[in-house]
Amino acid sequence: MIKNELENNETVVPNTRELEQLKKALPQYFDRGGNFLMDKFQSMLGESKVDVSKEAYELNFLGKSYAKYLAGLATETVIIPDVEHNNDARNKDSENIYIVGDNLDALKHLKNSYKGQIKCVYIDPPYNTGKGDFAYNDTFGFTIKDLVEKVGLDEGEAERVLDLQGRASHSAWLTFMLPRLIIARELLASEGVFFISVDDNEQGNLRLICDEIFHENNFVAQIVRKGTGGKQDSTHFAAKHEYVLAYAKDFNQAQLGLDIVENRIYPHVDDDGRAYRTQLLRKWGDNDRREDRSNLYYPIPAPDGTDLFPVRPDGSDGCWRWEKTPTMSDALDSGMVHFEKDGSSWVAYQKIYEDSDSNEKKFGTLIEKADDLSVDKLENLFQEPKPFKYPKPVGFVKQLLKRAGLDSGDIILDFFSGSGSTAHAAYRLGAETGHKFKVITVQLPEVLETKAPGRSHGFETIDEIGRERIKRAADKVKEDTGADIDYGFKLFRLEEPTLQALDTIEKFDPSQTGLFDIDRVEDFAPEDGTATGKDVILTTWLNKDRQGLTPNVFTVKLDSYELLVSDKYAYIIDPGFDSSDLVKLVELLEEGELNIHYLICLPYSLTFSSSREIEAALSSMKNNQTVKLEMRY
Ligand SMILES: C[S@@+](CC[C@H](N)C(=O)[O-])C[C@H]1O[C@@H](n2cnc3c(N)ncnc32)[C@H](O)[C@@H]1O
Repeated sequence: MIKNELENNETVVPNTRELEQLKKALPQYFDRGGNFLMDKFQSMLGESKVDVSKEAYELNFLGKSYAKYLAGLATETVIIPDVEHNNDARNKDSENIYIVGDNLDALKHLKNSYKGQIKCVYIDPPYNTGKGDFAYNDTFGFTIKDLVEKVGLDEGEAERVLDLQGRASHSAWLTFMLPRLIIARELLASEGVFFISVDDNEQGNLRLICDEIFHENNFVAQIVRKGTGGKQDSTHFAAKHEYVLAYAKDFNQAQLGLDIVENRIYPHVDDDGRAYRTQLLRKWGDNDRREDRSNLYYPIPAPDGTDLFPVRPDGSDGCWRWEKTPTMSDALDSGMVHFEKDGSSWVAYQKIYEDSDSNEKKFGTLIEKADDLSVDKLENLFQEPKPFKYPKPVGFVKQLLKRAGLDSGDIILDFFSGSGSTAHAAYRLGAETGHKFKVITVQLPEVLETKAPGRSHGFETIDEIGRERIKRAADKVKEDTGADIDYGFKLFRLEEPTLQALDTIEKFDPSQTGLFDIDRVEDFAPEDGTATGKDVILTTWLNKDRQGLTPNVFTVKLDSYELLVSDKYAYIIDPGFDSSDLVKLVELLEEGELNIHYLICLPYSLTFSSSREIEAALSSMKNNQTVKLEMRY
């Protein structure tokens, strides 16, 4: 079941991911044995006269190569669906997803199905304030020897890396964030955007590490979010703001949103009755001096016949925004220039007519007001006290989502979801714009401290607060707007397989038939009974096979066995598949009544001989049908 992942993880090193990408992009520089052909590569660089930089500028920290190694390891968890929740009327057709688990595992699972598909990631990780909001929590499972061998550290460094456990140093925070950011970038669509909240504690480090992961060319903006007021207990300045860093997957392909200007005023009316507003014709901002653009310094005729030159506020020569011909002369001829007297001098303006004006403008980098609806405040969804201490205002998250330029069908991901503000903002924005977004939310089942406000509402973990908040938010948005959006969510939990399952995996020997008398599938069922073993295996596999977490699965009745099918994938998980089912399967495939490309089997449910029979039957089908068989351990 996850034996393949466990085995693959044995071969991972810190640069495995990068080497795989290199092999995929430039296979011609690798020989058959997988060796990199350095000389060939260098002579290619020489041919195109590429300069090789030796500057080697980067942010280094203890744990960096270990963090890269973590990014390359496959998750050893399985995906447990909450079957009852997911079959509930509101959630049954929902494509929103809530994952309870460590986000590093969640991101690795999501990468299987959602790579390159997420339009907007927004995360609000612990800021590492030094006041207990962050401690590096890694079970490691590695010895010093492992880290020396697998990560290439020397013993002293390996020891210090293991010592990061429980710490809140900059290195610990960066070691925690790096693998998550690497995978988050891989999940982004080419036109997608990534937002991350941060404050002064880690802003400098985050900027450098994001420049490395996303590349500085893909930096979009550092947004400033004004808070509710500076704290007078600060030593020197009272900090009134924090930041959001925005990066694009690809700066040139990013499709970001535009702001809508409401109630624009058009104070002037032309002779033909058209209303207009004005915009200065002299250039302002950068390059506004005559010497910057000397061809844009020329006179235009003022209404009293005098020559009007562009003059800067300090009295020095400036320049116009338009070239003399044809733009300026055409505008003057067609009466599109508005003149006003300022004391004894004239000032020239461009006329912008109401009937041809755009009400869109670029978003600014300052978010001053959260413009939260009071019904959306966490304290109004629950009784006091609000169950989660520092939720981000829904109105603020909505403003970020607007900057992402989202459309119906776009996927939004928040993998540090806390109380669920992002999902709430997505419901609210979706209802206001009529867009049906899909939201993926991830939250660790972090246990609340005994005095945490959530305890007084009966919650034990943060994900419980988040899930209940999202439900209440959906109810409220529905009640307020009645909008036709997706108000539900499918629920999943990530866990390592049970001990019985691990035992099954370890002890399994395909050449022995003795084991097959027992149904091993139920070894994969979670202890709390929220899913069967089959549900867990199927959900994990469908996601692994790029079918996502909300696929369309149907059954095909063979002789008596029910084959599970999703798109081009069919699965044999439960025991009971026999020769008569195989005959029927081959018949359906040969007749073209079933069109699949892959048949994935759980070997613990098949006898040795039936595995062989399936293999033989699939390799000798009529009509050159090809179905790839995989025994997945
Ligand atoms: C600052 S809070 C996010 C608050 C959220 N933006 C809101 O408005 O409610 C960070 C959250 O990330 C969660 N978290 C921390 N480490 C995590 C991990 N490894 N996987 C998933 N969630 C994690 C914490 O439990 C916490 O709820």
